[in-house]
Amino acid sequence: MTGITTTDLVKRFDDVTAVDGVDLNVREGEFLVLVGPSGCGKSTTLRLLAGLESPTEGAVAIADEDVTTTSPGERDVAMVFQSYALYPHMTARENMTFGLTTATQFTDDEVNDRVAEAAEILDIEDLLDRTPSALSGGEQQRVAIGRALVRDPEVFLMDEPLSNLDAKLRVQMRAELAELHAQLQTTTLYVTHDQVEAMTLGDRVAVMNDGEIQQVAPPQLLYDAPATRFVAEFIGSPGMNTVEGTIKRRGDAVHVTWEQNTVPLPRPVPEAVTSRAGESVVLGVRPEDLSQEKRGPLNMEVTVTEPLGDSLLTRGVVGATEMEVSLPPRSAVNVGDVLSLTADPQRLHLFDVETGAAFYHSADDVASEATDQTARDAPRSRT
Ligand SMILES: Nc1ncnc2c1ncn2[C@@H]1O[C@H](COP(=O)(O)OP(=O)(O)OP(=O)(O)O)[C@@H](O)[C@H]1O
Ligand SMILES: [Mg+2]
Repeated sequence: MTGITTTDLVKRFDDVTAVDGVDLNVREGEFLVLVGPSGCGKSTTLRLLAGLESPTEGAVAIADEDVTTTSPGERDVAMVFQSYALYPHMTARENMTFGLTTATQFTDDEVNDRVAEAAEILDIEDLLDRTPSALSGGEQQRVAIGRALVRDPEVFLMDEPLSNLDAKLRVQMRAELAELHAQLQTTTLYVTHDQVEAMTLGDRVAVMNDGEIQQVAPPQLLYDAPATRFVAEFIGSPGMNTVEGTIKRRGDAVHVTWEQNTVPLPRPVPEAVTSRAGESVVLGVRPEDLSQEKRGPLNMEVTVTEPLGDSLLTRGVVGATEMEVSLPPRSAVNVGDVLSLTADPQRLHLFDVETGAAFYHSADDVASEATDQTARDAPRSRT
């Protein structure tokens, strides 16, 4: 097993708890993405795995071996940093091979073979004799990945390696990283704050907030059945709308109401919901699961329209609550209009007001899928 396991990992810096009890399991050959907002503890987690920080509490195992107190050089990991961290006075080749002959058993011939192989994979054969100042950002980034590749480690750790690239190059490199992983199948933990990058690259995605992992799941499941209100609001572009309301029950009809608005839940409504009748609850519905309907139950006054080309993202207020709705492109909608909206009954979510934990997803298939997740979500093969 060349996976990574952390057990109750904690890292405190004076009064800041950067990592707060993280149990993470990256499976052998898996591409796991750790995503979360700025300052939530992603880089610290990665640095703990690389051995660049030592944990306040807890343990790290790589390939079933406890490496909690092992020095970085003795862990079989290669890290790619956001800043690339290339030596400016060395050529691309020297950057890639620096320390390789002294730290490992490789002969010069073996090192040359490895560089040639990595350079071919990354398409940088013609750039090997240039120094970083003569390389574009994207090329420097490939060299930084090349440096990780030639080490042929058990594990890749990548900290926002694409964040310095422009949008187009980022999308291109994203596809190349996915291809690279399909080819090498090296266990990878990849950090980003970009949820689109997380969703497109990850076999599974771990969502982190305030030093804690909120959910680990395959991308589609994370979107369909977020385990917490935080995950619901973080995943999606834009994230899920959430509003505090009350569960109202009349016979076997159940609604969530707030102000003048009422959203009916599809029948049959499970016991987990009916037992909370009369209680406060957080209702969640994604912008793309709202649509215009003649006499829809929600009236939204439009405050902003953003044509995205393939959709018209429309922001507004429903009562006192800000919401976003994704409408078909070229919808005739103007600021100040009052839209009549309805929510797809099969795409509703309920969260506990206090804890933020999800206790209901209306889609039939999703609820059971969320329960089966642990049994089912072995790493996908992406060939
Ligand atoms: N060496 C340090 N000393 C003190 N506090 C630190 C140190 N390193 C990180 N922190 C704090 O720990 C928290 C987590 O930092 P970390 O760098 O892990 O966040 P991050 O999720 O990688 O954020 P970003 O997306 O901005 O890179 C932050 O509050 C940060 O200020
Ligand atoms: Mg960081």
